[in-house]
Amino acid sequence: MSIWEQFSLNGKVAVVTGGTGVLGGAMARGLAAAGARVAVMGRRADVARQVAADIVSAGDEAIPLPADVLDEESLKSACRTLIDSWGSVDILINAAGGNRPDATVFGDLTFFNVPRVALEGVVGLNFTGTVLPIQVFGEPMARQGNGSIINISSMAAQKVLTRVMGYSAAKAAVDNLTRWLAVDLAQKHGAGLRVNAIAPGFFIGEQNRALLTNVDAPPRPDGAPTLTERGQQIVDHTPMGRFGEPDELIGAAIWLASDASRFVTGIVLPVDGGFSAASGI
Ligand SMILES: NC(=O)c1ccc[n+]([C@@H]2O[C@H](COP(=O)([O-])OP(=O)(O)OC[C@H]3O[C@@H](n4cnc5c(N)ncnc54)[C@H](OP(=O)(O)O)[C@@H]3O)[C@@H](O)[C@H]2O)c1
Repeated sequence: MSIWEQFSLNGKVAVVTGGTGVLGGAMARGLAAAGARVAVMGRRADVARQVAADIVSAGDEAIPLPADVLDEESLKSACRTLIDSWGSVDILINAAGGNRPDATVFGDLTFFNVPRVALEGVVGLNFTGTVLPIQVFGEPMARQGNGSIINISSMAAQKVLTRVMGYSAAKAAVDNLTRWLAVDLAQKHGAGLRVNAIAPGFFIGEQNRALLTNVDAPPRPDGAPTLTERGQQIVDHTPMGRFGEPDELIGAAIWLASDASRFVTGIVLPVDGGFSAASGI
């Protein structure tokens, strides 16, 4: 197999949960450009249709596959639709997730009064919302004896970030699940079934834009937004001195999805401009 064939996703079918979001959308476009047929998942059917249409107009293959990652019936129905359309599922990226304001320890909210419903909501979306799609889409992968599952974790799982207590705990659980499941699936279903994670550093998304940039202030002369105090702290602690661009996750996603990483399972790969390597000194 040539080196290009190892990285090619030709003939593979991929599902991207959170494909309607900033990072999942970029990875969905990237997998499609590498040859995969991509199902774009999110609750917003109109956005899923738009992302899939953009991929198709770029000359690649995609379908919208709306579903809620916390609703097993909607996941099972989406899986049946996918298998009916394309016959198999080979790649699952779990990018649905994020924090929520009522679980953010900031202002009047301290650790001692984080509402249980907010805590369970953020842990549920990020952890259970990763487990359920793997149960549903991983089963046909286990039957066929191969597949690549890629969970989207966060730097918050490895380094303590103020404010995001429940989110960080949930992403730490995603890291642990990644390793646990890599062992379980390889032992029970063979070396073709792999589970890895990507831990993005800091990227401007819809959820964190207002937290990291002054959305209402005039931009800098180069057109870039000015940063909030927290946004500036993050850039100052990132050796590369900037936020990531969503497209900068694509190389890692293609590598983990493709045969080029066929002996790699159970890793959490940082894509973070050096954030996790830096001590701050
Ligand atoms: N941005 C960053 O700097 C950063 C850093 C580290 C990790 N991450 C992680 O990367 C992932 C993507 O983040 P992002 O920045 O791209 O955020 P985003 O643009 O807000 O995307 C979040 C995605 O999650 C989907 N989603 C939320 N609840 C869902 C549910 N119940 N069922 C199905 N889909 C659901 C949303 O789709 P619908 O609204 O259509 O349902 C959307 O596609 C998240 O897991 C996040 O924690 C982000």
